[in-house]
Amino acid sequence: MLLHIPQVLSKQEVAQIRTELAAHEWKDGAHSSGAQAASRKRNLQLSLQAPVYARLAKQVAGALARHPLFASAVLPRQILPPMFNCYSGGGSYGNHVDSAMQRDSLGDPVRTDVSTTLFLSEPDEYEGGELIVEDTYGEHEIKLDAGDAIIYPATSLHRVEPVTAGERIASFLWSQSLVRDAWQRKMLFDLDMNILKLRQQLGDSDEVVGLTSTYHNLLRQWTQ
Ligand code: NI
Repeated sequence: MLLHIPQVLSKQEVAQIRTELAAHEWKDGAHSSGAQAASRKRNLQLSLQAPVYARLAKQVAGALARHPLFASAVLPRQILPPMFNCYSGGGSYGNHVDSAMQRDSLGDPVRTDVSTTLFLSEPDEYEGGELIVEDTYGEHEIKLDAGDAIIYPATSLHRVEPVTAGERIASFLWSQSLVRDAWQRKMLFDLDMNILKLRQQLGDSDEVVGLTSTYHNLLRQWTQ
C-alpha cells in the first residue's frame, strides 16, 4: 500500500530543519547502500557524524510516530533513524529494492518492512526528482509538498528520477512493523479507518464496539 501522510512536519519545522541541514557536511550517498544499490545512486547524504544529525533524526522520527495515519498504516515495532539526502545537478537513484536488513544503533538487525520518504523541498523548488514506486498496479509517480511523507512496502522496486534543476532535499527511513505481511497491514489499516468513520457517524454503538474488538483480535493474531 502506498499512502500519502500529509503534514508530518509544519512549514516552520521544515524551514528549521532546512536551515540546520544547510550548515552541515554532506557526503556521497553511495556509501550508505548495498553494493547493488550503490552503483545506481547519485546523491548526497548528511553525514551521520554531523553534530545536528542525531537531533534532526529524532525530530523526524518523533513526528512520524505521533502521526495517527503513520501509526495505523505502519504499526511500527521499530523506526530506524531517518537519514537526509539531497539530489541536484542531474543526480538520480536508479531502480532498486532497499536492503531487507539494517542495523539499529546497538548493531542488532532490523527487518525493513516499510519505507518512508519525507519531502523537505517544495515541488516547485526543483525539476524532476519524482519518486517512482512500482507495485502490482503499475508505476506511481510521487512528488509531495514539503512536510508530507509517502510510505510504501520496502519490497517495492523504486527509483528517484534525475533532478535536472534546483535541489531535492528529503528524509528517508525504514520501519520494522509489528505485522510483517503488507496485505495484513493494509487490511488492518482499512478496517481501522472504517471503524473511525463509523464511530464518527454512530458513536460507540454495539456494532462499532464489535468491529473494534475484531480489529484488536486480528492485531493479536498477526503481530510478531
Ligand atoms: Ni530506496
